[in-house]
Amino acid sequence: MTRQILVTSALPYANGSIHLGHLVEYIQTDIWVRFQKMLPKEKVAECWYVCADDTHGTPIMLRAEKEGISPEQLIDRVWHEHKRDFDGFHIGFDNYYSTNSPENREFSSQIYLKLHEAGLIEQRTIEQFYDPDKAMFLPDRFIKGTCPKCKASDQYGDSCEACGATYAPTDLIDPYSAVSGAKPVRKESEHYFFALGKCEAFLKDWTRSGTLQAEAANKMDEWFTAGLSDWDISRDAPYFGFEIPGAPGKYFYVWLDAPVGYMASFKKLCVDRGLDFDAFWGKDSKAELYHFIGKDILYFHALFWPAMLEFSGQRTPSGVFAHGFLTVNGQKMSKSRGTFITAESYLNHLNPEWLRYYYAAKLNGSMEDIDLNLEDFSARVNSDLVGKFINIASRSAGFIAKRFGGKLGQVPAGQELLARMQQAAGSIAELYEAREYGRALREVMALADLANQYVDSNKPWEIAKQEGREAELHEVCTVALNAFRLLTLYLKPVLPKLAENVEAFLNIAPLAWADADGLLNGHAINEYKHLMTRIDPKQLEAMIEDNKQTLLPSPASGGVPVPGMKGRGEGEHSQARHAQHQQQAATPSPQTPPPLAGEGLISIEDFSKVDLRIAKIVNAEQVEGAEKLLKLTLDIGSATRTVFAGIKSAYQPEELIGRLTVMVANLAPRKMKFGLSEGMVLAGSDERGGPFLLSPDSGALPGMRVK
Ligand code: 2FM
Ligand code: ZN
Repeated sequence: MTRQILVTSALPYANGSIHLGHLVEYIQTDIWVRFQKMLPKEKVAECWYVCADDTHGTPIMLRAEKEGISPEQLIDRVWHEHKRDFDGFHIGFDNYYSTNSPENREFSSQIYLKLHEAGLIEQRTIEQFYDPDKAMFLPDRFIKGTCPKCKASDQYGDSCEACGATYAPTDLIDPYSAVSGAKPVRKESEHYFFALGKCEAFLKDWTRSGTLQAEAANKMDEWFTAGLSDWDISRDAPYFGFEIPGAPGKYFYVWLDAPVGYMASFKKLCVDRGLDFDAFWGKDSKAELYHFIGKDILYFHALFWPAMLEFSGQRTPSGVFAHGFLTVNGQKMSKSRGTFITAESYLNHLNPEWLRYYYAAKLNGSMEDIDLNLEDFSARVNSDLVGKFINIASRSAGFIAKRFGGKLGQVPAGQELLARMQQAAGSIAELYEAREYGRALREVMALADLANQYVDSNKPWEIAKQEGREAELHEVCTVALNAFRLLTLYLKPVLPKLAENVEAFLNIAPLAWADADGLLNGHAINEYKHLMTRIDPKQLEAMIEDNKQTLLPSPASGGVPVPGMKGRGEGEHSQARHAQHQQQAATPSPQTPPPLAGEGLISIEDFSKVDLRIAKIVNAEQVEGAEKLLKLTLDIGSATRTVFAGIKSAYQPEELIGRLTVMVANLAPRKMKFGLSEGMVLAGSDERGGPFLLSPDSGALPGMRVK
């Protein structure tokens, strides 16, 4: 039976840039879809790939407010940025939409109303933290305070960055709103819950029906054992999202309408292209529906989403394919190391197909994490793609042009190398289908090795010098270019742009999988132009430099509300999705000259992320064993901070006590050998002297914001 397939990747949150962590998933999905689209129509009649920006929720609302624009303006801008980045990496969505669409509002409401009818929506009054100044309820991530365990200040409402403890926001000591700084109060409100527990029998069946990877099915068993709790699907105004039908002032929680965005994006595609929506989404549809996701959002896709679909009378997914996280050079992505690499900066320096190839070489059908090792990246791309693959064409194309008028000769019947390469089409296809891209590429590269051995042993460059061996030369180059064509075909899902250039060079129609059965004989080709360059280590260095943020603490590392960066918290999404991500507090180098115009400049918005406060040094002491440090206790009005400052060479502790200075109050706490440092004091220094601690004019008081 011929297959109809609909494929999605997780919808990126419209609150940040696409980075290399995200791209693991889009590249993985795109390869799979491109492969399906190459199959004959009798096998796969249709394969569609849809996605969208995930646009709702508190972080978007607050960010827009901070930028002085409407949420609609913000998500429109981010949509264009995301689309530009995806296009740059050749991610071939059939539709890239937005969850803030009329289709999504319609579907989300319909699904909700059906769940309501089915008795699966319950209303309960709950008590939550409320910001009286902003008149809004505060998601956990927007409440900060002192860790109940280690007493580190400025910790988020759900976990402590300093000691790793997790807790409820109500456990925080001296909680404050990260939005306004106000002391939050407890306030009651009625919420709507989806009774997930009532869906357990269905979910158990669904899980065991082969829809999940083995590791994911195991995870599900753990969740079943722990028990399924009801899911809070409503949020109170003000909230950027869809109002719940029949519940004025209540909005769908962003995670309710996010997966519905898959349907909405596909619906839009159907309307635009005249496709039959019900053929894919109808209850008894035989079409296949696959969701590619990161393992961090399995809960949403393997529990909430299938349950929402089933109990609202819709079809359920055929499969959920979860992948692991990305590390760079074996470590979490880090802004200070320059390994938190945005899609945009990658594209400014490097060829997108290098990354597509490298990721593919590392990917398999499991949830294992993958590492982008930059040295290995350039070694692998240079040796496989340029050294093995492109080399075959560059060594034979010239002879065809110069000696044979640009026309290929005949492949002798039963030519062994090509027969072997053609036979591999089936097993390579199976590996792509199973998302075992690493193994598929190993098989392709083994074929490339054989093709190179063929060229090496036939030595066309020597035959070319000898008289009377024209026919032989013609044959060797014809076989080599046919081998090159087959390799291109097998690599096409991974390297679509390169394949397009090869198709132009070989003067052939776009390659489809079934073309592996044929060969080029007596065919006129075009002039060979260089198809791919090697990676120059300098390009990598330049990219890393571009991504280094050394002057400012990263936005997530402090008290300024740029939430969504740290895990899922309230369920609003992490910008670090699919990436092992680490923020590091950065120390400005005293030697760094002030930036010149256009060079490393930061915006006023960036600068305003740094929370500078007048601090009173209430204690200063020597640190045993430390050459340069003094331990300062700083009073910033609302809190007391401990800071290890490298100012020992210039000050006696006693002379500092009682003095006012300026501190960075929202630097992520840093574990040092001598203890936890909770900020930084400001001092000037360079080769002419210092450090000179800053002091405010008289009249300044501890805790005053320095602007
Ligand atoms: O984790 C995230 O970044 C979410 N924006 C993913 C949503 S996927 C789907 F459910 F919409
Ligand atoms: Zn703690």
